[in-house]
Amino acid sequence: MQYHVSASATDVALDALERILQVVSSSKRPAIALPTGKTPMPLYEQMALLSNDVKASLAAVNWFALDEFLCKDIDHESSFRYFLESRFLRTVNLPPSALCSLSAVTDAPDVEAKAYEERIAAAGGLDLAVLGIGLNGHIGFNEPGTPLDSRTGVRQLTEKSRKANAYLFGDDLDRTPTSAITMGIGTIMSARRIILLATGQSKVPAIASLLSLQSVTPDFPASVLLDHPDAHILCDRAAMGLEV
Ligand code: PGA
Repeated sequence: MQYHVSASATDVALDALERILQVVSSSKRPAIALPTGKTPMPLYEQMALLSNDVKASLAAVNWFALDEFLCKDIDHESSFRYFLESRFLRTVNLPPSALCSLSAVTDAPDVEAKAYEERIAAAGGLDLAVLGIGLNGHIGFNEPGTPLDSRTGVRQLTEKSRKANAYLFGDDLDRTPTSAITMGIGTIMSARRIILLATGQSKVPAIASLLSLQSVTPDFPASVLLDHPDAHILCDRAAMGLEV
């Protein structure tokens, strides 16, 4: 696991973008998992600024959403699918069919999860997983205590994660879903390369915990990256607790 510290969140986005484009150009039909959240917003903003030629090259990728809420009566505008449609697909001129995602409203989440694993496998496995990190160390929606070999499936959200996502539901915690469907820790670890983005002061405790861990523990899911052969933590100085 390697740390790469940039001056600002924009620099982290540019670093991530360069790494994504490297993967895009290194294979005919790569598979890449993308996160939702505040952290990757600058990445998608930078993607919107790419030339049309480079944007066209993104059509060759099998894009996968990392996770999704699970909530029967969710407004589409609050879903991670909508987030990635509006902030990623639209800005790089890709059609909705370019992104595989998990259904927020499925009646059969276990069937949905199994089918997702099959789609990832059919795509040849993930070449790259782009991640954020939760305040409790979660990756995807794999909360502390999730088995390290877990595959795509349903997770109950902690209060901390629900609070961190309430902005997607008009800051109304009562409307914020209590469960989610996410690629598992094992699914993420199967990616050939992983980049985890962390920016801003709010991530200082999470990054400090990650830095202090010597071994993998389910209590802090991101620690699993210690065991990955090609994992990169892209932080800005603020997330490292350094003066900016
Ligand atoms: P954030 O979420 O980018 O909105 O901080 C990250 C995460 O929960 O994985």
